[in-house]
Amino acid sequence: MIQKRMRELIEIIDKAAYEYYTLDKPSISDQEYDRYMQELLSLEEKHPELILPDSPTHRVGGKVIDEFIKVVHEKPMLSLSNVFNESDIISFDERIKKEHIKPKYVCELKIDGLSVSLLYKDGLLVRAATRGDGVVGEDITHNAKTIKSIPLKLPKKIDIEVRGEIYMSKDSFNLLNEERSRNNMELLANPRNAAAGSVRQLDSKIAASRNLDCFIYHLPAALEMGIHTQWDALEYMKSLGFTVNPNIRLVNNIDELLDFINEWTEKRNSLPYEIDGIVIKLNDLDDQVKLGYTIKYPKWATAYKFPAMEVLTKLKDIVFSVGRTGQVTPNAVLEPVRLMGSIISRTTLHNEDYVKSLDLKIGDIVSIKKAGDVIPEVTKAITERRTGDEKDFVMATNCPICNHPLERKENESAYYCLNPHCDARKVEGLCHFVSRKAMNIEGFGDRIIEDFYNMGYLKKFTDFYKLYLKKEELMELEGFGEKSISNLLNEIEESKNNSLENLLFALGIRHVGSKTAKILAQKYLTIDNLKDATIEDLASTKDIGDIIAKSVYSYFNNEENIKLLNDLKELGLNMEYKGTKVLDDTYFSNKTFVLTGTLNNITREEAKAKIEELGGNVSSSVSKKTFAVIVGDNPGSKYDKAKELGITIIREEEFINKLESSK
Ligand code: IVH
Repeated sequence: MIQKRMRELIEIIDKAAYEYYTLDKPSISDQEYDRYMQELLSLEEKHPELILPDSPTHRVGGKVIDEFIKVVHEKPMLSLSNVFNESDIISFDERIKKEHIKPKYVCELKIDGLSVSLLYKDGLLVRAATRGDGVVGEDITHNAKTIKSIPLKLPKKIDIEVRGEIYMSKDSFNLLNEERSRNNMELLANPRNAAAGSVRQLDSKIAASRNLDCFIYHLPAALEMGIHTQWDALEYMKSLGFTVNPNIRLVNNIDELLDFINEWTEKRNSLPYEIDGIVIKLNDLDDQVKLGYTIKYPKWATAYKFPAMEVLTKLKDIVFSVGRTGQVTPNAVLEPVRLMGSIISRTTLHNEDYVKSLDLKIGDIVSIKKAGDVIPEVTKAITERRTGDEKDFVMATNCPICNHPLERKENESAYYCLNPHCDARKVEGLCHFVSRKAMNIEGFGDRIIEDFYNMGYLKKFTDFYKLYLKKEELMELEGFGEKSISNLLNEIEESKNNSLENLLFALGIRHVGSKTAKILAQKYLTIDNLKDATIEDLASTKDIGDIIAKSVYSYFNNEENIKLLNDLKELGLNMEYKGTKVLDDTYFSNKTFVLTGTLNNITREEAKAKIEELGGNVSSSVSKKTFAVIVGDNPGSKYDKAKELGITIIREEEFINKLESSK
């Protein structure tokens, strides 16, 4: 009897929630809804043994878990490749047509949140999981249950997995940050981070209070269920009560696709949630199977990312920081603004000349621009908005950390602190040493390095490899434990096996970036060969000019550096190149090529990889350095430019012949 009433109440509440959250068409008032909910809650309180598994009271949160359990996705949750402009989209379309497919696409908004997999058994939500690394995610069922647009029970008793995006609306995000600001808590950078942080809470009450939402866009087993298009999959999921974003369109060709993109580029700001692009999916699921996947992405879909956006804000101050080379950089301190999904409060101003060329004054209203994933840039001062209270910028004359006088080198716009004992330089050098393209030692944030430096554990590179001697002590530090220190030490140990180019880059030799490090490693193969190289020999290397050659030579002819290398060798670091040898005697060797137009017998990526294997380079733009332009069908402006500059043009057929004969 009691359970029957509970069931009735669940049906009423679910229907009301579906009408409200999914259809946006409520049929009962909020007060009525609350009354039904209260009735159900009090019945459940009196008879906890009768609580039904799909009760909407689970949504108010309350379940607290001890830790996140890892779950393995039945089918991996892949990410999407990115495209940034019309010509990338055309190449994507042409790659598909090359497989004799006549494509229609479903265009969807790319919701800026985090992806989620929802698993239903017998129609009941049994598991929600994050994407994680795509193969293994984390169980967040307790939090997903608090999201009202995620059905706890489906109208049919089926087993099904659907995937979608959990997100936070702009309004909820702003409210949350306002509350955090009132409580003196750090502000969250953007709605995506806020949503991600909310689902990673052990206590589901927190997630419940965050007002998260969810759009569903993917049905992994559609074909097995007899559904043959993405459009029908979306329709089917809608019929099961999932919220599918209404702004979707089936397009028949590139023109219609570009129309959709242009429309939403205009309208994106009017949405109550953030989107960062448009997802383009091949509609026919059998064709999707035909195209298949790369290791990371489906070949049948891609994400168009919106271009740069600009906002205005106040330049509150200009402060100086010191890098590992001692370079002192001015940084803009900005009144925090939201730009393309992140809050920006500080950004580099590069050097004195940059600030002067923009005529920036402290107190100016400035324009900030951000393109794709790159670092935001101050692009101009709005001089019309000056009040007269602005202050001139004055470049620092002394190091902000050690007060050593700064020097400006000839022909360089940067100022340097040349005090070799400057703490800031040392810490930056250590941070660089562990960074991804250097020794790639994961687990060392800049803060940890700074703390270890200040506590005396890390002063020079060799200290990383002696940290294991201090294991017991480190484990006692606040915020660390046996597990995190062991992980860190394992990472350090593993880094000993890196190939030579990682070490070369990590050493922080002036002018040696990761690309140069690789070129040097490929040519000299061992550190001993490199040590013995003459300036002339170094300078004769492709892509290495006199400045780099001199810098490398002087690095290896400095006693202190040689001692450091000997010490590192003794500690067990590999000092040899482990990659593949690049051929230097083929038609392509040491030459730069540019690709344009559609190639019919090889993809762009394959062409690039082949050229590089054969010792050549591929560049994205035509310049005097270009040796030849390889031209496919419908070439773009690069072809015109090549003709203008009188650069050799190679047609696809000739290119393939040259590849064949180079083997
Ligand atoms: S489809 C194999 N559709 O974007 C199918 N993803 O950058 C992969 N995303 O990991 C996903 N809106 O988290 C798809 N309408 C949409 C999406 C979408 C947002 C996210 C998703 C994915 C990421 C890729």
